Amino acid sequence: SPKQSEDLRSPICCIMGHVDTGKTKLLDCIRGTNVQEGEAGGITQQIGATYFPAANIRERTKELKADATLKVPGLLVIDTPGHESFTNLRSRGSGLCDIAILVVDIMHGLEPQTIESLNLLKMRKTEFIIALNKVDRLYDWKARRNSPIGMTLKKQTKDVLSEFNRRVTHVITQFKEQGLNTELYYKNREMGETFSIVPTSAVTGEGIPDLLLLLVQWTQKTMVEKLTFSDEVQCTVLEVKVIEGLGTTIDVVLVNGVLHEGDQIVVCGLQGPIVTTIRALLTPHPMKEIRVKVWFSGGAFLISV
Ligand code: GTP
Ligand code: MG
Ligand code: NA
Repeated sequence: SPKQSEDLRSPICCIMGHVDTGKTKLLDCIRGTNVQEGEAGGITQQIGATYFPAANIRERTKELKADATLKVPGLLVIDTPGHESFTNLRSRGSGLCDIAILVVDIMHGLEPQTIESLNLLKMRKTEFIIALNKVDRLYDWKARRNSPIGMTLKKQTKDVLSEFNRRVTHVITQFKEQGLNTELYYKNREMGETFSIVPTSAVTGEGIPDLLLLLVQWTQKTMVEKLTFSDEVQCTVLEVKVIEGLGTTIDVVLVNGVLHEGDQIVVCGLQGPIVTTIRALLTPHPMKEIRVKVWFSGGAFLISV
């Protein structure tokens, strides 16, 4: 991430949850892309990474009028699969991130991989925000596209609101059974002890401004030290592959610091350390996803340059 006046790096956010709760669709909604519809069987089988520059977050949250509070240069979001066979990728994702979004389908409540994800997050003491997704599926819901959730709730009938409250209460009870206090974010007076729930829809975009703003505000407020820009490169390898015409390429998440062409790097190899020089740096376009099939077994490490 480019160095900013405030000297904060971009937080890394991992999106986790049970299969088909809408993780990829939420990212599609923020990016304005259609990745989910192109997936085989609608199932994510890879890790994906997308960079959201601050300008996009500012635009998306402008109805909440919190412009001045944006200090990070952007947000890097890692999509993970929810299918039960990809525990490994969820584990790697949750190990890499500063904060997570745990997606729960409002119509289904907590499901097996919600609980598995929750346990990974608890184990690593990772902060997270709950996206209670698919609110548009509540019977007779009146959509207000891309609206902050408070404004859209005001437009709903008494019956819709009572159904909404019933389902929220049920989910809060289910989290309580997992030993966790949760509350709708706009009622949460003890953030840090009580985890926040943001109602969202990946189809109508409702609640997305709230989710983005909360993510940014919460990381800026509680992780200043962790997010302070540093000259020491901290980098996680996602995948190593040989591309014809380019040679050996390494897909990485640059957590902190700056990489330059010509830098000497040391990476973990199966037969010991590999010392090499960066010949070229290729960065993906903002708001576009890069996908990697397997996660390099070397995992996270530090590179000194
Ligand atoms: P995996 O990555 O396979 O675990 O699934 P996922 O959590 O990424 O869910 P995905 O984005 O694939 O969405 C699953 C299905 O739910 C798709 O048919 C989406 O169109 C639908 N869906 C996702 N979000 C919403 C939503 O907010 N409202 C409605 N009505 N449908 C949604
Ligand atoms: Mg997905
Ligand atoms: Na899916």
